Amino acid sequence: METPEQLQTIALQEASEATSTASLREVELKYLGKNGSILGLMKQLGSLAKEDRPAFGQKVNTAKATVEAFITERASQLKSVEQMAQFESERIDVTMPGDPIRMGREHILQQTTNKIKRVLGGMGFQYLESPELELFQYNFDALNYPPDHPAMDDQDTFYIDDNYLLRTQCTALQGRVYETTNPPLRCFTVGRTFRNEAVDRTHGHTFHQVDCFMIDEKVSMAHLKGTLGIFARAMFGDEVKIRFRPDFFPFVEPGVDYAISTPKLFNGRWVELGGAGLIHPNILERYGIDTEKYSGFAFGLGVERIPMMAYGVDDLRQFLENDLRFLSQFEFEPIR
Ligand code: FA5
Repeated sequence: METPEQLQTIALQEASEATSTASLREVELKYLGKNGSILGLMKQLGSLAKEDRPAFGQKVNTAKATVEAFITERASQLKSVEQMAQFESERIDVTMPGDPIRMGREHILQQTTNKIKRVLGGMGFQYLESPELELFQYNFDALNYPPDHPAMDDQDTFYIDDNYLLRTQCTALQGRVYETTNPPLRCFTVGRTFRNEAVDRTHGHTFHQVDCFMIDEKVSMAHLKGTLGIFARAMFGDEVKIRFRPDFFPFVEPGVDYAISTPKLFNGRWVELGGAGLIHPNILERYGIDTEKYSGFAFGLGVERIPMMAYGVDDLRQFLENDLRFLSQFEFEPIR
C-alpha cells in the first residue's frame, strides 16, 4: 500500500506527463476523484493507532492539495497550448488573393440602344416608347397598307386575335404620335419587334429596331440623307459613306433602302442597314396634316445590324441566347 507521499509523487509524475487536458483530467479523476486513490487513503485511518491518525490525515491533505495545485497549473498550460493549436488551424491568411467578383455589364444590344438614344437624342429627336403588343391598326392600317396588300406578307407575325399582334416594325409608333401631336415633330423609338420568320443567321423571330421620323416645313430627301449620314458616322466612324437605292414601303414615297460603306468594315463593301423615305402624303392627310406646308422623313433599321457589323458577329441568334461566353466579349466602344 502506497503512502500519501508515494501517491503524491506518482500523481505529480503522471500529471506532468499528460499531454492534453483530456488525459490530465483522467489523472485528476484517478487520484483526486471521489473514488480516487489519494482520498482512498482516508479509508486506512480506521486501522491506524489513534495518535497516528491526525498526522496521517494531514499528510493525505497535503498530498491532495499539492496534486490539486499542480494539476490546476498544468491544466491552464495545456489549455493555452491547445487553444493556440486551434487558432493556428483556423487561421485566415488575409494576404491571400480574394475570390474574384464577377461584374455584370450591360447586354451588347442595350449598350447599342443607349448609344442610339444618345446620338438621336443629341440631334433633337424625342425618345418615345410604344407597345410591343400592338394593334393591327397601328402596325399596318395607319401606315398606308391597303387591306390584304402583299407587303404584309413580308411581315407575317404572331397574332393574339384579329386586332392584336406582336408588332413587326417600330414604325407602328408613327400613327400613335400623329393622333396626339401636331407638327413640327421629331421622334424615335428603339425596341423589340417580332416576325414569323424562317429563322437563320440574319433573321430572328424576335429582334430590335430603331425607327426615327420628323415632320416639318420643306423636309426633303436631303434632310433624310444628312441625318442618316450623321447617325451612321456617330455609330460607325467618320469615314462612313451612305448609299440610297429605290425600294418600296407603303408608308414612304419615295422609298429607299440604304447601305453604308467604310474602309474599316468588310473592305468598304456596301452593307444594307434598313429602309427609309419621305412619309407618304396619304398618311399625313389621314391625320389632317397640311401636305402643302409639311413634309417628313422616316427611317428604320435593325439594332442587331450595328454590333454585327462592328464586331463581325455572323449569327444574330447569339444575341438572345444569353451565353455569357459570347456576351462577355463586348466592351462597347465606337469603332472610330
Ligand atoms: C421595315 O421594317 C421598315 N419599317 C423600315 C422603314 C422605316 C422603312 C421607316 C421606311 C421608313 P424592313 O422589313 O426592311 O423594313 O426591316 C428593317 C430592318 O430591320 C432590316 O434592314 C433589318 O436590319 C431588320 N430586320 C428585319 N427583319 C429582321 C429579322 N427577322 N431579324 C433581324 N433583323 C431584321
